[in-house]
Amino acid sequence: MMDKYPWMIGCLIFVFLFIQSGICIKWLSLQHSNLHWNLTSLNNNPGRGIRSGVRSPCAVAKRRYGFIKVQAKLCRNAMEAMPHVQTAAMLAADTCRIVFKDRRWNCSSITTAPYLTPDLTRATREQAFVYAISSAALTYTMARACASGSLYHCSCATKPTEPPEGTFQWGGCGDNLKWGAHFAKRFIDNAEKYVAEKAKKNVKRDNSLEENREAILKNEVAVINLHNNKVGRKVILEGLRIQCKCHGVSGSCNIKTCWKALPSIAEVGTRLLQKYTNAKEIETKAYEQHIATLKPKKISDQLLFISKSPDYCTKDERLGSLGTVGRQCNVTSNGPNSCRQLCCGRGYRTVVEEKIERCQCKYYNCCYVKCKVCRTMTQRYECS
Ligand SMILES: *[C@@H]1O[C@H](CO)[C@@H](O)[C@H](O)[C@H]1NC(C)=O
Ligand SMILES: *[C@@H]1O[C@H](CO)[C@@H](O)[C@H](O)[C@H]1NC(C)=O
Ligand SMILES: *[C@@H]1O[C@H](CO)[C@@H](O)[C@H](O)[C@H]1NC(C)=O
Repeated sequence: MMDKYPWMIGCLIFVFLFIQSGICIKWLSLQHSNLHWNLTSLNNNPGRGIRSGVRSPCAVAKRRYGFIKVQAKLCRNAMEAMPHVQTAAMLAADTCRIVFKDRRWNCSSITTAPYLTPDLTRATREQAFVYAISSAALTYTMARACASGSLYHCSCATKPTEPPEGTFQWGGCGDNLKWGAHFAKRFIDNAEKYVAEKAKKNVKRDNSLEENREAILKNEVAVINLHNNKVGRKVILEGLRIQCKCHGVSGSCNIKTCWKALPSIAEVGTRLLQKYTNAKEIETKAYEQHIATLKPKKISDQLLFISKSPDYCTKDERLGSLGTVGRQCNVTSNGPNSCRQLCCGRGYRTVVEEKIERCQCKYYNCCYVKCKVCRTMTQRYECS
């Protein structure tokens, strides 16, 4: 059969590879976890969870929430940081869902982590966004956690080295972006590097290019993921703003101290959405050459992807497309949530709903409320 359909070999390799490649965002599954990250549960239970009947939260995270080896190790060494990692998972998932809520691909697949659908494993544009927002959210959460004093190993940012522009002094407590980025690199980038190294080892000199294809691609995808992680962190760095506080007699601003504060996560999401729109497709084989030929500056800020995405109009499980049948659209809008765009030209149906509510409520005497019953008709539009 393989003689007759040689392309099948390619397809099988293709599918196999990409099912493996989203491994380092599986920790986003912590958005649903209710693990207790405390040392008590670990001390009672030094590494040998099964025997004592209680498991260390890091072992559970590895088994159930898709932590890979290096992440589980960091978890054990820095457990006090783990509740913040969990917060970051929620922040990343929520931001992604909010940013994409009006679009055909609406980030709902992030909810099924640690099981990832092909839209988030084939090195797509969507995957690029998710990597960037995850790395950004972890950086963000840790930077805040440091400044809020809830971590033992870090506190407020050190004062900026550049002299203040204006009549203020550096002071206050800046969000510790440096430490946040450092942690995000250890937790996410190191995991990705581990995958890349493993793939590199599987490239055998005596094999043909085709035989090595899977390992090479895996390594290249990891390199791209690392790049996208960096873009996410950079967006935060670029969004830093100066916040100030006045000191002085009765509200006068005789002395002003300022520090650098993070942008809002919504801003980070919006900025990354722009980068998603302008993301750049990379030829798999030539990633490293590509980097060399393009001017570094030009490429360094863009999100990168390998596989073209489907239009997400129709359901196709192989591509991780859920389709838009039944999605609520807006007849008057011109944006991506308009019925025309969201329903991909298939049309829509109008759902009329009657709402029965208590209304026009009035107080009688002191303590008695009387309402009328109102019926209102509302219309919804759903893609056919
Ligand atoms: C520690 O974790 C256990 C569960 O493993 C939980 O019952 C307990 O309340 C936690 N203790 C603290 C102080 O959070
Ligand atoms: C996102 O899209 C999926 C598939 O089209 C749909 O089932 C889900 O309800 C959507 N979520 C939101 C919040 O619109
Ligand atoms: C539909 O879009 C219009 C124009 O963007 C907006 O004013 C309106 O609030 C939207 N309707 C709903 C139900 O979201």
